[in-house]
Amino acid sequence: MAKPKRRYACSACGSVSFRWQGQCADCGEWNTLAEEAPATVFSLKHDLSSGGRGIDFEPLDAPSAPLQRRSTGLAEFDRALGGGLVPGSAILMGGDPGIGKSTLLLQAASKVARSGGEVIYISGEEAAGQVRLRADRLGLAGAPVRFAAATSVRDILTTLGGPEFLGRAPALLVIDSIQTMHSDQIEGAPGTVSQVRGCAFELIRFAKESGSALVLVGHVTKDGNIAGPRVLEHMVDVVMSFEGERSHQYRILRSLKNRFGPVDEIGVFAMASEGLEEVSNPSMLFLSGRDEPVAGSAVFPAMEGTRPVLVEIQALIVRLASGATPRRAVVGWDSGRLAMLLAVLEARCGLNFSTCEVYLNVAGGYRLADPAADLAVAAALISALGDKPLPAGSVWFGEVSLAGEIRPVAHAGLRQREAAKLGFTQAVGPADSSGKESQIRYRALDQLPNLVDQILGEG
Ligand code: TYD
Ligand code: MG
Repeated sequence: MAKPKRRYACSACGSVSFRWQGQCADCGEWNTLAEEAPATVFSLKHDLSSGGRGIDFEPLDAPSAPLQRRSTGLAEFDRALGGGLVPGSAILMGGDPGIGKSTLLLQAASKVARSGGEVIYISGEEAAGQVRLRADRLGLAGAPVRFAAATSVRDILTTLGGPEFLGRAPALLVIDSIQTMHSDQIEGAPGTVSQVRGCAFELIRFAKESGSALVLVGHVTKDGNIAGPRVLEHMVDVVMSFEGERSHQYRILRSLKNRFGPVDEIGVFAMASEGLEEVSNPSMLFLSGRDEPVAGSAVFPAMEGTRPVLVEIQALIVRLASGATPRRAVVGWDSGRLAMLLAVLEARCGLNFSTCEVYLNVAGGYRLADPAADLAVAAALISALGDKPLPAGSVWFGEVSLAGEIRPVAHAGLRQREAAKLGFTQAVGPADSSGKESQIRYRALDQLPNLVDQILGEG
């Protein structure tokens, strides 16, 4: 066999190169390349004739049992999974530190254990004492979850394959987190690409063979990807992300990939002092504290990559008495785009902002880059200028051209579905995006002046 080349893997995106570089050529991250253990390469001529076992072929039309799912005990979690845990499947759960992954999984683990399933919870991040404190706080200290603080995959799998568990595979195995696991058969420190990949491989193989549902917690990098290897996402059956603003109480559980169900399902939770509460009617969460609709606030169904997220856009308009130059301040949106939109509202709709200070804020610390925000920003500005609240339960999306036309945008269907899912009843958007989604009323607009009429018109 030829001497294997040195390989370097990027810890951010997992791409492999054969030369060390300061910057990853694929994802552009700096200082993420680390040497990897060489892969074993089989040469057809020499290696393949010996050692392997034969494989059995199977007809594709053989009857197979329907998927037997097991509930996590949390309806919102089940919903995001597409109906519950599938035995023998592997789930990767990503999310920012402190967002509540361990809390969610400890709650689900306790529910599964209380319903009679064997549950193993392995923490590599926290000591037993810390986890016990959390369990106490959640009122779960009495749940029959088998807990261990461990980081060696070999030790974990030896125990699970040992006499104590003979013939009794756990219903649920939680590994918190995969980045803390290590295998002594693999070179490198825990958290490196080869360790993460190798440990995940062993754990997933155990899940497939035993029929346990496996949940791997994964850290998220600063750009929102599940850290380490992208390859991890290819190895598992389900990729979920747990999201939210830490300063806000709501959390959204999404599935980004699901071999057993739809990917646009979400579960919604609220972080309370006794753990995560399920929110079965999420619009309550987004609209709460707003018994009376406020002028200047519009809800925008944004897309983050391929994911819809509802955000609130707030505009405040202050009329100036004197001739001072009015301020324009924007948080979370492009100030050039705001200037353009104000110009279009003045030139095409006859509104006058010239003696007004204009403040625009995207709530929750979001930064919007999606051009479809134009219509929602325009709605917020018009509503603020006229001091007229927008109709409750509405969302707004569409791009506005310099001519004042409302242009179609990508993912109109996804935006409407997300809004409907979160309890909104009306979407206002471009003329040719209508009619596809039955769960929500759609009002099509083709010109910005129509929006002005719609908001200010009747009064
Ligand atoms: P945690 O589950 O440890 O997050 P992760 O595993 O994703 O890093 O959650 C930590 C945060 O949640 C912490 O800041 C405190 C908060 N929290 C509550 O508000 N209520 C609770 O009942 C619990 C257990 C945590
Ligand atoms: Mg944690």
